[in-house]
Amino acid sequence: MSDAIAKTAQKSGIAAVQRCIVPGCAAQFGFREQIYVCPRCGGPLEIEIPLELLKSGPDLRERWQGRAASHDPRDRSGVWRYRELLPFDNDAPVVTLFEGNTPLFDAPRSAKYAGLKALRLKHQGCNPTASFKDTGMTTAVTQAKLLGARTVVCASTGNTAASLAAYAARAELQCAILLPQGQISPAKLAQSMDYGAIICEIAGNFDDCMRLISELSDVRSIYIANSVNPFRIEGQKTVAFELLAQCDWRVPGHVVVPGGNMGNSSALGKGFDEMLRLGLIDRLPKISIIQAEGSAPLAHLFAGLKPFEIVADASVPGEIAPVANPRTLATAIKIGAPVSWKKALRAVLHTHGSIITVSEQEIADAKAIIGRDGIGCEPASATTVAGIRKLVAANKIRSAESVVAVLTGHVLKDPDYVSNYHRGTLAFETLTEQGAAKSVPIVGAFRNVPQKVAATKEAILKSLESRR
Ligand code: F0G
Repeated sequence: MSDAIAKTAQKSGIAAVQRCIVPGCAAQFGFREQIYVCPRCGGPLEIEIPLELLKSGPDLRERWQGRAASHDPRDRSGVWRYRELLPFDNDAPVVTLFEGNTPLFDAPRSAKYAGLKALRLKHQGCNPTASFKDTGMTTAVTQAKLLGARTVVCASTGNTAASLAAYAARAELQCAILLPQGQISPAKLAQSMDYGAIICEIAGNFDDCMRLISELSDVRSIYIANSVNPFRIEGQKTVAFELLAQCDWRVPGHVVVPGGNMGNSSALGKGFDEMLRLGLIDRLPKISIIQAEGSAPLAHLFAGLKPFEIVADASVPGEIAPVANPRTLATAIKIGAPVSWKKALRAVLHTHGSIITVSEQEIADAKAIIGRDGIGCEPASATTVAGIRKLVAANKIRSAESVVAVLTGHVLKDPDYVSNYHRGTLAFETLTEQGAAKSVPIVGAFRNVPQKVAATKEAILKSLESRR
């Protein structure tokens, strides 16, 4: 929030607050209180921005566009450029790596594969630490500074950790990350090592790490940077603003994201909703979430909803059945008990989207097809294109609809997966009905195996000919 707006807000008694999203509670708290869930009922918290104050002001779209040529570090950031909608004063000690500003690509091969006339890919893997997490970490770590935290911590499947480690290093804060031992891509772990974080490898899965995080949340000097923290969501929601600006404020029909802990989908939902309430757009895109088959608690819940529950603004169920032993080679989204599922489900129901699953084979082939468009992403991101293909086949997306898939991480986040896919050595560990371990090979439809070629011109030309 800018100073002028903050002053007006104080005068009229309206300022950004943290509010519990549980309808029967809706308790509100100051935006500088160090809380992560509602102290009254334990429900999720959300930042409420006083949008009505912005409605009467100058056109925000023009103001944001005007900042594109500025050298002010806050204008160079694709998050802080939209600071009117962030719960910070103008003199906040912004911790930025110039996050955001990510490209929106046309992807004709992926479109054809999915059964669409056109498909655009918003590549959040082009952020400073190569995942979408940076857009939320800039705001969360700025808030940690404001609160005087000594240490920032998170549980992670790899990307949140790498991002927090980098922003903590910029902010000169101690950083500790809790990772499920042996379940993280080595490339992501290497990033966190390089940025100087204290790396705690936990004997358990991501959900165990998350449980430990909630136990740590009452230690005053420690600030939690997982997406349960509503200040993370504030930064991440700006991707909706940047996407709309890139679309010249023409709202896409459908925006599709992978689902893990559900912060990303929650943030997109909030971002689009704020744009609608400000009158900057006249309708919402459908938001759909895609989960990996073996780690899909929210898709299971969605599949079990009755038709009358799938209407806009229906009250969401109170509980979700966690997946006890989540499985997927897309380790970023290997999560059985997503923390932000209520906000994510609300966004999907509100926009009439879907939540579905895709198989390991579907993820792997979709990832390779995205690669053929010259755009590399990590496996979790490829759930989007695999999911869009299923939604088109099920007539939930029309082939002429304008669709955007959000790619969440860069291809170099998980090079072992890519190499194994193309060499034919990728396999998925699952269980038989009797509970025995079973390895299922992934037979890549788009494999591209390196060839051994003699060191002669003729051999090279022959090799080219054989592949024409
Ligand atoms: N894609 C990637 C590449 C991710 O790293 C994650 C989450 C997701 C998708 C899912 O996003 O959790 O907001 O629904 N990674 C977290 C982490 C859990 O610790 O890095 P979500």
